[in-house]
Amino acid sequence: MTPPYLEKFRNIDGLIVATPVMTMGIPGALKSFMDRFQVFFMAKYFRNDPLVSPDKKAHRRMLLLSIGGGENIEHDFDGIILSMKAFGHVIDCPYWGGEVLQNNMDEVIDITTRTDVMKAAYEKGYRMGELIARDMGE
Ligand SMILES: Cc1cc2nc3c(=O)[nH]c(=O)nc-3n(C[C@H](O)[C@H](O)[C@H](O)COP(=O)(O)O)c2cc1C
Repeated sequence: MTPPYLEKFRNIDGLIVATPVMTMGIPGALKSFMDRFQVFFMAKYFRNDPLVSPDKKAHRRMLLLSIGGGENIEHDFDGIILSMKAFGHVIDCPYWGGEVLQNNMDEVIDITTRTDVMKAAYEKGYRMGELIARDMGE
């Protein structure tokens, strides 16, 4: 467990992932980062000794915020959602269903011009924080 980011991921209470869709999935740089979590995978599924304590796992959640360029691409976010769900399993930070997804970015260009989407992302993040705090007994 040497790299500091791996240790950090044992201690987080929540995770917000914000990413574009690339070729119907997670961009390579983010995917490569996720693929460094073999140590979590082995501990959980092979040694039956997860790196995240049951206490932590009980309140951890993951929120996904994602954008895509296309307007009418079928299943555009399916790959990202499936991968983030799998990653959430591996690191014991379960995917939370409050995702915010915005397609048509090739026309929107600047997400900050979509105040409704910005507001939704803020509210979902806030809500997830509230749920985590509640489950931590705070
Ligand atoms: C190589 C590549 C593949 C892409 N694949 C998709 C795709 O499958 N679906 C989609 O909706 N947009 C796709 N896009 C568009 C990006 O999601 C969009 O341009 C996004 O705004 C890029 O985010 P960024 O400006 O933060 O890099 C792709 C863009 C690139 C460069």
